[in-house]
Amino acid sequence: MSTTDYAVSQQVVKDYLDRVSLPEPISARHEAELVERATALLKEKNAALVAHYYVDESLQALAEATGGCVSDSLDMARFGQSCDAQTLVVAGVSFMGETAKILSPEKQVWMPQLQATCSLDIGCEAGAYRAWRRQYPDHVAVVYANTSAAVKAEADWVVTSSIAVDVIEHLHAQGRSILWAPDKHLGGYVQKQTGADMVLWDGACIVHEEFRTRGLEDIKAIYPDAAILVHPESPDEMVAMADAVGSTKQLIDAAKTLPHSHLIVATDKGIFYKMRQAVPEKVLLEAPTRGVGGDCVSCAHCPWMAMNSLERLVSCLERDGAGHSIHVPDETRTGALRSLTRMVEFQRP
Ligand code: 13P
Ligand code: SF4
Repeated sequence: MSTTDYAVSQQVVKDYLDRVSLPEPISARHEAELVERATALLKEKNAALVAHYYVDESLQALAEATGGCVSDSLDMARFGQSCDAQTLVVAGVSFMGETAKILSPEKQVWMPQLQATCSLDIGCEAGAYRAWRRQYPDHVAVVYANTSAAVKAEADWVVTSSIAVDVIEHLHAQGRSILWAPDKHLGGYVQKQTGADMVLWDGACIVHEEFRTRGLEDIKAIYPDAAILVHPESPDEMVAMADAVGSTKQLIDAAKTLPHSHLIVATDKGIFYKMRQAVPEKVLLEAPTRGVGGDCVSCAHCPWMAMNSLERLVSCLERDGAGHSIHVPDETRTGALRSLTRMVEFQRP
């Protein structure tokens, strides 16, 4: 296994975040008015709200109440493809909106905040990826869904964390060597699970990279019987301590099936909304990050997911998607559709 040296710097991320403001807090009354307005507009425009677990609770609740979807990135992609709505409003980050548009070009795809991106996407620029890929002509190129459409167009396969191990196992069984981008932590985890020959891009999620085993050990000392649930974008020493590792949806499923009464959860805080609903009888604890005194920019809450808000959703619907609409150039779409179709059609053995 080897890695590249293309890691996105914290400074690049900070500069990016300085350019887009986070939503201001709103009163309960204003929130109720916005929910009512958004519900009416979604119906009027025959639009479905497709939300990720990390966005604000108000958006997750609205998606559920209006027949949309709240899920992990794979299920969001599949839902967008199969639902009847003419318009998909994706509350998440840009790769999720692009994926929806590539899989359903006949639908309009809008986002409350088009600039909401992802540190993995920023850290894997298409030109650099193309040049890197050319160095490994015999490898099968697998990219994480958290990449731009242009990178997906260069790849053979797209995977999310929920199917990464299964897809690499499948390719490894065919004797293939893997060129993996961009998340080195997820790639390292998959490599350990499968024993596949993998070359890894040097990318990471700025949110999950902040989790620390030292703090985790401190919580475990207080709750020795607690189970640890970890998203595989976290550093490998966190994953090594986990009782369950998986995508956001898989972590919620694990919360239900694990017998433990206390769960320590290492992923974005947004997941607690649905996890609390899934296991109301259990005690849910946040895994510690470097936090206060450290130099983390997000402390267990993705700053790009946080750009989504009810106000921005209403504005997007009122403007009929003007300034909120996802467009993917035809040539890019054709290439990305190939690798994405493998992802959505992949069935676990
Ligand atoms: P999931 O596919 O697990 O929802 O992950 C998406 C993501 O961006 C996690 O940080
Ligand atoms: Fe990207 Fe990390 Fe945010 Fe997920 S949590 S969208 S991987 S920056």
